[in-house]
Amino acid sequence: PAPTGPYAQRFGGHLVLVTGAASGIGRATAFAFAEAGARVVAVDRDPAGVARTAEMARLVGAAEAWSEVVDVSDEQAMEKLAAKVAAEYGVVDVLVNNAGIGLTGSFMDTTTEDWKKVLDVNLWGVIHGCRTFGRQMAERGQGGHIVNTASAAAFQPSRVLPAYSTSKAAVLMLSECLRAELAGQGIGVTAICPGIVNTNITATARFAGVPEKEQQRRRAKASRAYGMRNYPPEKVADAILRAVFHDQAVVAVTPEARGLKLLS
Ligand code: NAI
Repeated sequence: PAPTGPYAQRFGGHLVLVTGAASGIGRATAFAFAEAGARVVAVDRDPAGVARTAEMARLVGAAEAWSEVVDVSDEQAMEKLAAKVAAEYGVVDVLVNNAGIGLTGSFMDTTTEDWKKVLDVNLWGVIHGCRTFGRQMAERGQGGHIVNTASAAAFQPSRVLPAYSTSKAAVLMLSECLRAELAGQGIGVTAICPGIVNTNITATARFAGVPEKEQQRRRAKASRAYGMRNYPPEKVADAILRAVFHDQAVVAVTPEARGLKLLS
């Protein structure tokens, strides 16, 4: 059946591009737009995962769905992607810069290489997306919306995720700067700030190479610290559609994010 409801009226037939769409929040977001009848471009560096997302997006109602394999931290690759998407599918109406990686370690123990790794994807990946696709939106002159996945970590100092938290604070600020710059052109910008969500990133960032017993201890500790719940990525996807629909600037998705400063 054809999608119905306000989201279908708003996004039906729109071209929506989601990065980091091979899993977790990105995949759930691609599905949510697909359910509203959007045309979806799923982008990720994981070829099998992103192809599967596009395939499933078609099944859940996307007007059309494609997958593209791109590393968002590669500026030239992102420029090539933007040119290809514009030529083959059209100018993107909604861009979701969501690809991200997590890396744990204290500030002093995080190597230069690791800082660069995190900033290349989490910060530069978002900048590349905003610049390439945002420019096309502005040139077309028919508005649009950009969503950047920041995090509750943007507000909360961390002893275990300094590079990640710094990258997310930067994403939050760049989103607000860009929002001010594009406001006159009918292009909205949203920074979405989830708390802890049940995806691969939380599993791999925290527990890579950590023995099972130690994992359990750390999980319990995190639960106490954050009131951690197993939020499903669909909850964030839902918040993203709502944010675009209502043109919200900064959105905290889960209660542990909502309680943080600056979000009153
Ligand atoms: P995930 O690990 O399930 O998904 C991340 C996706 O990004 C993966 O498919 C991965 O292949 C892709 N990716 C990573 N580097 C890439 C690159 N250079 N180029 C293209 N694709 C790349 O994790 P999740 O949780 O869905 O993460 C999505 C976003 O949400 C990230 O920006 C993350 O920082 C953010 N976030 C996640 C939270 C959580 O608790 N899971 C909380 C707050 C924010």
